[in-house]
Amino acid sequence: MKIISHGFLRLYLVIALTAMVGCEGEQSAFAGLGPVSSRITLLMWVMFIAAALITAFICLLIFISIAGPSRWRQKLSSEQGVVLGGIVFPVVTLSTLLIYGFMVLREGENLVHAENPVRISVVGERWWWRVIYLHDDGQTTESANEVHIPTGRTIELELSTADVIHSFWLPAYAGKVDMVPGRINKLHLIADKPGVVRGQCAEYCGGAHALMAFYAVAMLPADYDAWLAKERSGAKPASEKEGERLFFASGCGGCHSVRGSRANGEIGPDLTHVGGRLSLGAGILPNEPKSFAQWISRHQTLKPENLMPPFDFFSESELQALSAYLNALE
Ligand code: CUA
Repeated sequence: MKIISHGFLRLYLVIALTAMVGCEGEQSAFAGLGPVSSRITLLMWVMFIAAALITAFICLLIFISIAGPSRWRQKLSSEQGVVLGGIVFPVVTLSTLLIYGFMVLREGENLVHAENPVRISVVGERWWWRVIYLHDDGQTTESANEVHIPTGRTIELELSTADVIHSFWLPAYAGKVDMVPGRINKLHLIADKPGVVRGQCAEYCGGAHALMAFYAVAMLPADYDAWLAKERSGAKPASEKEGERLFFASGCGGCHSVRGSRANGEIGPDLTHVGGRLSLGAGILPNEPKSFAQWISRHQTLKPENLMPPFDFFSESELQALSAYLNALE
């Protein structure tokens, strides 16, 4: 009897290969770009191989119990066989793997404990990320939807939430940690080399949960210091006067801040240097010249249920002026 037809087998292979393509790229859990994520990747492979071996062993036992020689079948069904195979074997193998897992993860944690970490607070919001750089002098700089980190240094992320439970997941560098109301959970990581990777909210948090992404940008320490100094400064005076006028006349400054201007809203993402970010809408649109106009006019279509009120009343020329103003906020 032919159990699997060729067509079905081909379909199965296509699905498996397509799923595996998802393991590549900027949000890969297999990348292991730092000591913490490398330990997680190692643990994943050990668990995967152990599970495959155990599955093969169990399949062999099932085969023997169905079609094996009667002497072997009797051994398997004896009381001794049941105690050994049904209790001793699973208890020993699962306990060994569990203890090994704790050891590997503890070792990963120990690798990143440093006296003077770079401290960044990340607050989960529906449905974006408030990112606050905590400077050594006690001051803070707020940004959004992008976490910049220096390479080679321990990063201490203080994870909290402004509303519901979110989960901060940056697979290239670390495991995922929940953001729970009333708590600050810490996550330590180190980035080995410069690069850009993507993270994602990993706990269902309502409407736009699947569209709550962010980017992490690892930079050489000198580049990071220069970037942070620039990020810390206010926006330079606007050259795009018509766009600036529309921004304030439409009430944008009631929800968004642009440091250095009178826009000081605290509800939505800080826009002081929004023109220099990689994406808009928390990873929804690449930050290209046309993206601001797209976002302002169609954000409820691009990211349904997001909490920004609809602003679909601007004319094309007004959209262009607003875009020019926001783009210049680098
Ligand atoms: Cu935030 Cu899911």
